[in-house]
Amino acid sequence: MTTLIPPTVAPAPIKISDPKPGILEAASKPRELSTTLPSTAYTDPAFAKFEENEIFKKEWISLAHVSQIPNPGDFVRVDLCGEPLLVVRGKDNEVRVLSRVCRHRGMDLMPSGFDHPDCGHQRVILCPYHLWSYDLTGKLVGAPEMQKAACWDRSEVALHTFRSEIWEGFIFVTLSPDTPPLSEKYARLKDEFVGKWDISNADLVWSQHWDCEFNWKILLENFMEAYHHMGAHMKTLEPFLPARGCWTEPYDPNFSAMHLPLKDSLKEQILAHGDAINPFPNFPTLKLEDKLEWWVFLGFPNFLLFTAPDRVYWYRLLPTGPETCSLLTTMIVPKGTKDLPDYEAIKAKEVAGGIAFHMEDMEVCTATQRGMRSLGYAQGRLSHLEEPMWHFQKYLATRIEQAGQG
Ligand code: FES
Ligand SMILES: [Fe+2]
Repeated sequence: MTTLIPPTVAPAPIKISDPKPGILEAASKPRELSTTLPSTAYTDPAFAKFEENEIFKKEWISLAHVSQIPNPGDFVRVDLCGEPLLVVRGKDNEVRVLSRVCRHRGMDLMPSGFDHPDCGHQRVILCPYHLWSYDLTGKLVGAPEMQKAACWDRSEVALHTFRSEIWEGFIFVTLSPDTPPLSEKYARLKDEFVGKWDISNADLVWSQHWDCEFNWKILLENFMEAYHHMGAHMKTLEPFLPARGCWTEPYDPNFSAMHLPLKDSLKEQILAHGDAINPFPNFPTLKLEDKLEWWVFLGFPNFLLFTAPDRVYWYRLLPTGPETCSLLTTMIVPKGTKDLPDYEAIKAKEVAGGIAFHMEDMEVCTATQRGMRSLGYAQGRLSHLEEPMWHFQKYLATRIEQAGQG
């Protein structure tokens, strides 16, 4: 007699739907009718793959600031969507972005999770597997016990060099050979806005890495709107950068820029007594009127700056999965700041302040990602104080259309 085994009941699959039509629709609305995006823009693995291929592997992505690698041999180690990279200054003082993939058997020379530092100094780049070594330009300089390998010209072996550009002191990479130069793309962003700070002449004095449990766009959208000052930052930013006075420059296809004016009493203080109210020295290239407000900038796709007259916060934000990202929060100050007699004490206080408002953002971002997984989510309406989010939607829509997926 045959025993009938009932078929196993498979669990219901997680509902996945393509957010692209919803993104195109949101981006096409007038600002006054703007909405948030479909939740699957923040959860769908296929859409995350689309972003990886059409955005992060094609666009210019900021990796480091020049002040992190002032001397030959200084390096920053970073992964861009699974691509292992090494930003390194050569003996010729050139900054290069090299692949960390060894030309012998393909090992990542400094794999994550095995105690390799995120930045440091080295005279040669050594593969720990079989001790092949490369100079600071990526050229192979040593390969033990390879004398019997025939028809092999070791002088032609080198780590792959990716295209890089330095813009306002930030080192950018693109994995694509066809992407137009960054200097063209960000020309207006530099000439009319960011160039005022002369950030290439500054020092990155603090950085902290965060593994985040949310999609990269959740943080980006949070970074780019000041509406939440009145809620999430009620006690930290709202008292001097009130949400209500913020306003956004008209849409530009390459960036979004938002003004965050200081509260009136601070502006009056600056106008009456000069601008020495900030803890660090102000960037010397700024005019008095530039010191009456802070700014947030987003160079598409993910270059994030929060600027004050005396410091700039640069956030390096990289996706690591559909619902996770890697974030490096940094603070950059004008050159010479480190010479202040009480510099260490001032820095400690300012870093603590930066972490305090960042923790407020971490809570709302983590909690917003939970909302993206919920059956209770529906697309919401945006305030005029969230206009940069609508600009970013237009950027995403452009990428979708350019990929022929609109
Ligand atoms: S894989 Fe690098 S030396 Fe063998
Ligand atoms: Fe915030």
